[in-house]
Amino acid sequence: MKEIVLNTKIKVCALAEQTESHQRLTAAAVEAASRAYAPYSKFNVGAAVLLGNGEIVTGNNQENAAYPSGLCAERVALFYAGSRYPDVPIVALAIAAFTAGRQVEQISPCGACRQVLLESEMRAASPITILLCGSSEVYILPSAASLLPFCFDGSELTPPFH
Ligand code: THU
Repeated sequence: MKEIVLNTKIKVCALAEQTESHQRLTAAAVEAASRAYAPYSKFNVGAAVLLGNGEIVTGNNQENAAYPSGLCAERVALFYAGSRYPDVPIVALAIAAFTAGRQVEQISPCGACRQVLLESEMRAASPITILLCGSSEVYILPSAASLLPFCFDGSELTPPFH
């Protein structure tokens, strides 16, 4: 019998130790969370996308009385970035969440958002750094693929798209 081991290396960095650009991005995610529309879960999530052109676009979760009709912060930001700047690669994505008046430590994206992140990464053929924000530390992952190991990436589709 053989074994396949999948490894993910996560860097842990104090907020103030981050690069200036990552500090700006994490602050933008925190700020975006304050504008979330989450009356049902009361779980406010913010996402900030840094684009290759230097621009930052943000999103937050948008809920709905018909629950599945809502969307996560990450996908709001990623789809907006894709619709506004289809040809500009995404360099990094920061995520922050708050509930009951406190910051959630290092929220990690749901499966559907990981899949969408992976698509953005493969579309531009350029890794997306992912910053999972906590109140004092940030977890840094080198790519969307590292967050979704052993993924379905469309390479088996006919014709192959990646
Ligand atoms: N949510 C996000 O926006 N991003 C995540 O990574 C996890 C969950 C939202 C969806 C829903 O509005 C609320 O948080 C509770 O699940």
